[in-house]
Amino acid sequence: MKKLHLSVLASAVLSATAPALAYEAGDVLIKFGPAMVAPESDSQSKILGLQGEVVEVDDGVGFGISGTYMMTDAIGVELLGATPFEHDIDGLGTVLGGARVGSTEHLPPTLLVNYYVPVSDVIKPYVGVGYNYTTFFNEDTTAELDGLLGADYTSLSLSDSHGVAYEIGFDIPLEDNLVFTATAWNVDIDTTATVKANSNLVEKIDVEIDPWVYMVGLGMKF
Ligand code: NI
Repeated sequence: MKKLHLSVLASAVLSATAPALAYEAGDVLIKFGPAMVAPESDSQSKILGLQGEVVEVDDGVGFGISGTYMMTDAIGVELLGATPFEHDIDGLGTVLGGARVGSTEHLPPTLLVNYYVPVSDVIKPYVGVGYNYTTFFNEDTTAELDGLLGADYTSLSLSDSHGVAYEIGFDIPLEDNLVFTATAWNVDIDTTATVKANSNLVEKIDVEIDPWVYMVGLGMKF
């Protein structure tokens, strides 16, 4: 009996203090905030056919924005966009070790179907699965790489990537139509890097980036 009273009290307090949040079919959610792309550590890939030489893609930071259309009260279709993420590319190994070999920018638009797990009105957890398309641009190499390859100039290009994306996150209502949101996406991003020295092909390398993308921010319901 005491337990029952406590839980009734607890839910009364919760419903009195925390704004309730209900998503309904037809709602549009716009979420935005700083986002980080953290490649998996096994994004290291062999480069230049040299034994033990690899490249590693560093973390990149950008600004994420996503729009979700609620098809039903629990299922939403989400399009994730972002400002370009910039990543440095580091060399590891005897020859390339310690060298910054280049950098790249990319955009990872992702289309997902999300399921909002109906556990509570004070926190809305969700999971999703979808499709990611990533395009790379502004790929640059450094004078350091030129020197290491004994070339006058070098270039790097990264092919587009198509893959599956997974999402997990939650929304917490702050006010009527305003939410705090935190989301993580795991994205299968695989690319082929083409390295040229003095316009001659040096190597084509498959790079598995497969990053976690994190975003924390605010959302508005319309
Ligand atoms: Ni992959």
